[in-house]
Amino acid sequence: MQRASLKGAKAKSVEEIAIVEDFKNIDKMTIRNCKKQGCKDEHGNCPIPSSDSLPVQCVGPWVEDKYFFLEKYLNASREARRMFADKNNAVFIDLFAGPGKCIIKNENREIDSGGIRAFKRDEAPFNEYFYFDISSINTRALEKRINSKLNCSVRCGDSNSLINELVETLSQKPYRYHFAFVDPFGPDGLKFETFRKLAKLNKMDILLHFPIGSIKRNLGAWLRSKSTILDDFLGTDKWRKRIEGLSTDKIFKVLIDVFTEQLKSIGYPEEGLRMASSDRDIYTGLPTVPVKNTKDVELYVLILASKHPLAQKIWNSVIKIDRKGQKGLF
Ligand SMILES: C[S@@+](CC[C@H](N)C(=O)[O-])C[C@H]1O[C@@H](n2cnc3c(N)ncnc32)[C@H](O)[C@@H]1O
Repeated sequence: MQRASLKGAKAKSVEEIAIVEDFKNIDKMTIRNCKKQGCKDEHGNCPIPSSDSLPVQCVGPWVEDKYFFLEKYLNASREARRMFADKNNAVFIDLFAGPGKCIIKNENREIDSGGIRAFKRDEAPFNEYFYFDISSINTRALEKRINSKLNCSVRCGDSNSLINELVETLSQKPYRYHFAFVDPFGPDGLKFETFRKLAKLNKMDILLHFPIGSIKRNLGAWLRSKSTILDDFLGTDKWRKRIEGLSTDKIFKVLIDVFTEQLKSIGYPEEGLRMASSDRDIYTGLPTVPVKNTKDVELYVLILASKHPLAQKIWNSVIKIDRKGQKGLF
């Protein structure tokens, strides 16, 4: 009752406004319960809106590692991108965009999503942005947060289908540079066919969240059936024979190997996937950076796929130092 009367009250003075704001904060602290099972909906959103009253995705603190490497890469590659951006030819694609904002579990700290960070860039910003999400709640929230119709297209739907029209449109200007942020919850949202379509574009760099944790949780079941989510995600069933009898750590090396071979088969050359002398190949064949939860369990690795060796050189330099400034601990 007290809450209703406070919310309904018309704040007349600075003091009153401050009291209402304080109350709202206490309200959020007590209502958000991130430890409760099922506190997120099927799109990963918190049932309580964020401070701008729009939906917000509930995430762990490790999400900041992902954004750290995304932003560091976008910074480090700015001069290369500027050659295209200056001529209106740099395109950003976010296939799993979310609502544009996240809230860190149990911290009540709101932060921008990867796609919004790319949008807000000052240095060598992209000239055109494409955002997809399967949830209309998320795309509506994202549209409001971006609040620009000029150079942004936000579409609701399955990225694995929307990609067809996108690639057809983008193919009309084959000289442009493209950067795709591919950040699904797990392998179930993403089919390898989508990479095959993206790869039709010449200058197409991809930063991918390769979902180790969710593959680990489901691998046993997928091994017992055919034509599974993992077969679709990797675009092949070769992995089945190759992981027979292997221990878990070796299994992931093989899965990433298989994925690398698949990328090569769609036009990503060796030099755009790894550096000859890279010391970052924690999984054979690819310089990856792992993102771990607070219990040091690996959730996913980030992979940069490019057709150009310069992009890989930049990625290798970017992943040398982590968010806490530590070197070589991956
Ligand atoms: C990990 S979240 C995205 C986080 C976002 N990239 C960020 O930086 O905060 C994954 C998103 O993918 C969306 N999604 C799931 N399956 C999808 C699909 N097949 N096509 C497009 N979006 C999908 C979900 O609704 C969810 O918002």
